[in-house]
Amino acid sequence: MQKVIIANWKMNPSTLKEAERLFNNTIKAVSGVKKIGIVICPPFVYLQSLKSLLSAKSHQPKASLGGQNLFWEDTGAYTGEISGEMLYSVGAKYVIVGHSERRAKGENNLEVNKKIKTAVKSGLTPIVCIGENLRDENHEYLNFIKKQIEECLDKIPKDFLQKIIIAYEPIWAIGKGALPATAEEFREMKIFIKKVLSDKFKTQTMGNVRIIYGGSVDEKNVQDFIENGQADGFLVGRASLNPKKFGEIIKICEALNN
Ligand code: PGA
Repeated sequence: MQKVIIANWKMNPSTLKEAERLFNNTIKAVSGVKKIGIVICPPFVYLQSLKSLLSAKSHQPKASLGGQNLFWEDTGAYTGEISGEMLYSVGAKYVIVGHSERRAKGENNLEVNKKIKTAVKSGLTPIVCIGENLRDENHEYLNFIKKQIEECLDKIPKDFLQKIIIAYEPIWAIGKGALPATAEEFREMKIFIKKVLSDKFKTQTMGNVRIIYGGSVDEKNVQDFIENGQADGFLVGRASLNPKKFGEIIKICEALNN
C-alpha cells in the first residue's frame, strides 16, 4: 500500500505570498520522490493559487491538495462554511475531518460523520482524525476510541472504507512541547482500530484501510513509526511548515518503502 504523508499547515502562513513560497520550497524539497503520496492541506483561501502552481509543468512530483475542514450541506445560508464540492472545484482531493483542534471548538462525532459522507460524495478522500485526550490506567481510552470510530463511521457504506484514511492523533502528542506516542503505542492502537473496524463492518478485509499516525511527527521519529509501528503514513503539523524537515520525512519514508 502506498504510504501517504499529509501536511497540515493549520492557520499558517500569514500571506498568500508566503504560502506560495512555502509550497514551492516544499515541492523542491521532495523532488525525485516517486513512491509516496504527498498531500498538502493549506488554509482554504490558498488552495486555488497553489493548484495553479501545481499545474505548472516544472513541479514534479505531483503532490495533491486538501482542505482542513468542510461543511456537510451543498449550498445555502451557512455563513462562513465551505462545501465538499467547493473544495473539489478549487483543486482539493483530500480533506481533514474531525481534527482535535476543531473538536475542541465543539465539533462532535455526529458532525464528523456527516462531513465524512459529504466528503466521499464530493470526490474527496476524508482524513478522519481520532485520538484520546489522555491515557488512563484502566484503559478507558480504548472505549473512547471505539466510540469515536463507531459514531464517526455510523451508517457509512462498506465500500466507502477504502476511500477513507484514519489518522490516529492522540491529543496529548500534538503541538509544541508535546511528546509523540511511541511506535509501539501506535502499533497496538492500529491493531485495535482494525479490530473495531472489522467488528463494525463485519469484514476481514481491513488490510486496505490506511491508518496513519499524527502528533509531533518529525524527521527523527518517522523511521521508528514505519519500522516498528507499521504506520501507513503520517499527518504532519509543525514539521510541515519547514520544507527541509518535511522533505526529509518524505525521503526517509521513500527509502523505507518496499
Ligand atoms: P504537530 O500537529 O505535528 O504539530 O504535533 C499534528 C496535527 O495536529 O495534525
